[in-house]
Amino acid sequence: MGAKTPNILLKLAGISVEFQERVALRHIDLNVEQQEIVAVIGPNGAGKTTLFNVICGQVKPSSGTIHFDGRDITRWSSHRICHQGIARTFQIARPFPQMSTRQNILMGLWFGAGKPYGSPAAQARAEELLELVDLSPKVDLPAKELTLSEQRRLEIARALATNPRFLLLDEVAAGLSPHAIKEMAELIKTLRQQGLTLLLTDHFLTLTSKVSDRLVALDQGEIIMEGKPDQVLQSADVISAYLGERNQERS
Ligand SMILES: Nc1ncnc2c1ncn2[C@@H]1O[C@H](COP(=O)(O)OP(=O)(O)O)[C@@H](O)[C@H]1O
Ligand SMILES: [Mg+2]
Repeated sequence: MGAKTPNILLKLAGISVEFQERVALRHIDLNVEQQEIVAVIGPNGAGKTTLFNVICGQVKPSSGTIHFDGRDITRWSSHRICHQGIARTFQIARPFPQMSTRQNILMGLWFGAGKPYGSPAAQARAEELLELVDLSPKVDLPAKELTLSEQRRLEIARALATNPRFLLLDEVAAGLSPHAIKEMAELIKTLRQQGLTLLLTDHFLTLTSKVSDRLVALDQGEIIMEGKPDQVLQSADVISAYLGERNQERS
């Protein structure tokens, strides 16, 4: 147990999370390999965001272990986990609204990588990240004036500013146009080519089949199926989990 296994970067074993009476995750076993793109899908309330919170140390599991690159990080603080190389974006983008796009990224570099705010090294890295997420023309705009798609890319750049090896993107496609989703898919593939491993959530299933190597379907805190995207999206159990959600919303 806990030994470093070749190619497995993240390993969850028997992870459960409880909030008061409610079980949000139940005995989750999940491995993610180096440079893999895995998407966690499932209806509203399935436990996708909680899974991210527990990996990043923002929520502590009631049982189970999390290993990252062979180290047991289960009880580590979120700050220490970030420094170990795990970064995330949030379901609702949270840029500093009054600051410019560039300043937002400089803040990320300052907090995450300890690069002094505005130093030449930080400036150079900020320009690189802005180009990578295609925001170079928007550097001086206050973040609040960016479109939703641009705000999401800014969040990704800010997460990348902490120099992660593992990136978690929560509902990164929600609310985006088909064109913006295509661009996001390209960005995700580029990030993988640069050596990153990615875990995404995708409630509306708009991005997953375009980029993911593997899908993990969650329902009511449990993994009900995992495998290749086509296989999982055609599964009767997965379809019925989504239809169940629709019925609940109607009632
Ligand atoms: N901080 C919290 N306190 C209490 N219950 C929570 C908390 N976070 C999530 N939950 C509950 O856990 C379940 C899973 O939520 P969540 O992980 O946000 O699902 P998803 O991201 O798949 O929509 C839901 O029932 C939600 O109400
Ligand atoms: Mg969520």
